[in-house]
Amino acid sequence: MKLSLVALLVFSFLSLSFMTLKDVNDADELYARINELNYKQFARAPGFEERTLAIQHNEGDQDMYVDIYMNEVLEKVLEANDPIEQWPVGSLFVKEAYRDEEFMHILASEKLEDGWVFMQWRTDGVAEFAGKPQVCLNCHMKGDDMVRAFRFPQYQKSK
Ligand code: HEC
Repeated sequence: MKLSLVALLVFSFLSLSFMTLKDVNDADELYARINELNYKQFARAPGFEERTLAIQHNEGDQDMYVDIYMNEVLEKVLEANDPIEQWPVGSLFVKEAYRDEEFMHILASEKLEDGWVFMQWRTDGVAEFAGKPQVCLNCHMKGDDMVRAFRFPQYQKSK
């Protein structure tokens, strides 16, 4: 009984937070890069002009508040407002998640040549998720090309 509980805990730990060395390196690289880029100077995502109650961060979480920033690649494509079916390579989001006033996590998603990667860090920069974690994909697959905060420009017309 006890042993199976331990096994279950170990299994859930591994399946939730398993990262390869490459994932951790990629997470470290992106964390350094978003800070060098000073992501708080990025434009805020439409609909998230200020800290906003999250639509849904994690099933277990209630009352998470988010700041969502997007880089100039996304800014330009929204400005152009042409119908698209994919976000451009180079698109980058950074999201800060708060429980009430408490800063909990930093998250990011970036569109690379071979698709989106998803990262999550503790507030001290230690990676919690990186790469293509199933937990992130499960929810983000429901968005327009993996983006949940907003739809494609003119999405009704492009569908
Ligand atoms: C339970 C569903 C769910 C899960 C799981 C989830 N997300 Fe999200 N995510 C959302 C929703 C909904 C939004 C829209 C903004 C908001 O309400 O936070 C979002 C927004 C984001 C954004 C801003 C860009 C965008 O797509 O709108 C980033 C970055 C992000 N999530 C990263 C992650 C990462 C990294 C993970 C995995 C560690 C993850 N998310 C897991 C639902 C989820």
